[in-house]
Amino acid sequence: MTDRKATLSVGDKSIELPIYSGTVGPDVIDVRGLVQEGVFTYDPGFVSTAACESAITYIDGAKGILLHRGYPIDQLAEQSDFLEVCYLLLNGELPTAEENKRFHDTIKNHTMLHDQMRNFFHGFRRDAHPMAIMCGVVGALSAFYHDQMDVTDPKQREVTAHRLIAKMPTIAAWCYKYSVGQPFMYPRNDLSYAENFLYMMFGTPCEEYQPNPVLANAMDKIFILHADHEQNASTSTVRLAGSTGANPYACIASGIAALWGPAHGGANEAVLDMLAEIGDVSNIDTFIQKAKDKDDPFRLMGFGHRVYKNFDPRAKVMSETAHQVLTELGLENDPLLKIAQRLEQIALEDEYFVQRQLYPNVDFYSGIILKAIGIPTSMFTVIFAMSRTIGWFSHWNEMVSGNYRIGRPRQLYTGSPKRDYPKK
Ligand code: SDX
Repeated sequence: MTDRKATLSVGDKSIELPIYSGTVGPDVIDVRGLVQEGVFTYDPGFVSTAACESAITYIDGAKGILLHRGYPIDQLAEQSDFLEVCYLLLNGELPTAEENKRFHDTIKNHTMLHDQMRNFFHGFRRDAHPMAIMCGVVGALSAFYHDQMDVTDPKQREVTAHRLIAKMPTIAAWCYKYSVGQPFMYPRNDLSYAENFLYMMFGTPCEEYQPNPVLANAMDKIFILHADHEQNASTSTVRLAGSTGANPYACIASGIAALWGPAHGGANEAVLDMLAEIGDVSNIDTFIQKAKDKDDPFRLMGFGHRVYKNFDPRAKVMSETAHQVLTELGLENDPLLKIAQRLEQIALEDEYFVQRQLYPNVDFYSGIILKAIGIPTSMFTVIFAMSRTIGWFSHWNEMVSGNYRIGRPRQLYTGSPKRDYPKK
């Protein structure tokens, strides 16, 4: 912290506010004292608000930088694997070889669900959206794993972290299996994290299923690229829920609910629906016009970002991965990929998008990869949630292991002044 001050003039008052600097990135002005001065700050959408202090992820939107505990996302995507990134996000440092092996083995031994949870799945309609099922099942974990839910005990928090990292792929795959009426596949301990997920998604009891290593590698990259992203809407939701002392499973379920929105994690599903609606490159101009039309609710899904105003570093890695997967599957001429590439090219030359700094984000290409692998669009956000669980948990853990207060924003009241109830 520093003794630097910002001076705010309110009426005839001059208010001094402390300024703090982080390791890197914008300074912050501590406005907590303003309530004593009878004024609030006003920042709907939290565009200019730092809601907490964190050491987990740093984003520089102007330079397209994304660091996890200081390591650039492209280096992690190229050289690490998802479980090692989970360890890094959770513990702050990369594991030694021995720590990494122990962590991988621990996760492997927590992948099964309490068998009574199968009944829980069967309470849903078969045509339920997999995100609705995932929201319900993850919230229900607190009804099955309440033996380790003392949020003040670091050991119990660590066990809960292992359970969530390990069980989310099983829950996600079972959401899919339930929706298509196929039997649940149990996790296998001889497969990697990503291979196991593909096995539980596409394997059946009727025949051997060996995951394609190129596709498993692409899935692991997708998991890494979605793992964490600073104080985004769903992570902020988890922090706010956690600030009340709610149990970690309930907090993660609140993050899943927030992620579902098409402006956030639901965008990857919305991108595929949009590409299908465009249907052919010849229709792109019409949709570009719709995206610009303020009276038309249509948005170019997969474009734009609250923070990235240059490019989303994850989109670059995702685009390369898309080419690898489509080449592996002989789908280089995938019509949706052609529309996506043409759309990206046109949008990046169009004044409307350039002026508003709207570039492809992480969701623009991820859906093309997932569709090529054979994953239905309704499962895209489920996979995003599975990956982001480590980010949500790491932020929750960082908060509850330090000093924190219940989150309780105020408002600008524009309703009726006091008035009396009319006498009858
Ligand atoms: C994710 O926060 C995170 O980190 C999120 C995420 C993560 O990892 O957690 O990165 C994941 O959510 C990525 C974003 C996925 N969403 C989409 O792809 C949906 C489409 N994008 C937009 O809805 C929008 O860009 C947001 C929600 C992403 C950002 O919204 P902002 O920052 O509030 O920006 P805005 O809506 O105020 O837009 C600014 C201008 C507006 O025009 P003007 O009023 O200035 O004339 O840009 C326009 C908007 O109309 N605009 C778009 C647009 N996005 C913004 N116009 C057409 N198409 C778009 N996609």
